[in-house]
Amino acid sequence: MIPSGRVDPVILGHLLGQHRDLHARLLALRADFAAAHDANPPSAKAVRDRLLELRDHLRDHFVQEEQGGFLEESIARMPRLSVAAREVVAEHPRLLAELDTLLDKLPARDVRDASWDDAALGFAAFSDHLLAHERNENAVVQQGYNEDFGFSD
Ligand SMILES: [Fe+2]
Ligand SMILES: [Fe+2]
Repeated sequence: MIPSGRVDPVILGHLLGQHRDLHARLLALRADFAAAHDANPPSAKAVRDRLLELRDHLRDHFVQEEQGGFLEESIARMPRLSVAAREVVAEHPRLLAELDTLLDKLPARDVRDASWDDAALGFAAFSDHLLAHERNENAVVQQGYNEDFGFSD
């Protein structure tokens, strides 16, 4: 249990480490979409399952961020970060909704079918949005703690 107002740096490091895991998941999905026209493309079910897994991870990750107190702690340490921190948190439901929409529209057909073109574009856009979100979030936390956690990008 973390005493209120104090954040365990180990837990904070763990949370920021999850961003690396999310990057890896995005890269795997990017490879899936890129392989759609290869000799051995992934099955539609495999891509859907990976996206569902990403959604579950993302939901848990956002809950941990919102309940972990890291953003609040950053604001307490540096009040000028409050606007940026609020914007970051407000993006969580939007990102989940974007991923849900992508999943809702995911074609059931073989990934080589042209019906997957929109899904590939949608995923690329979502991926950009999520990476920009994590960059902003890392910036808020790193500035708040005045520490470099090694997430320069
Ligand atoms: Fe976040
Ligand atoms: Fe995050």
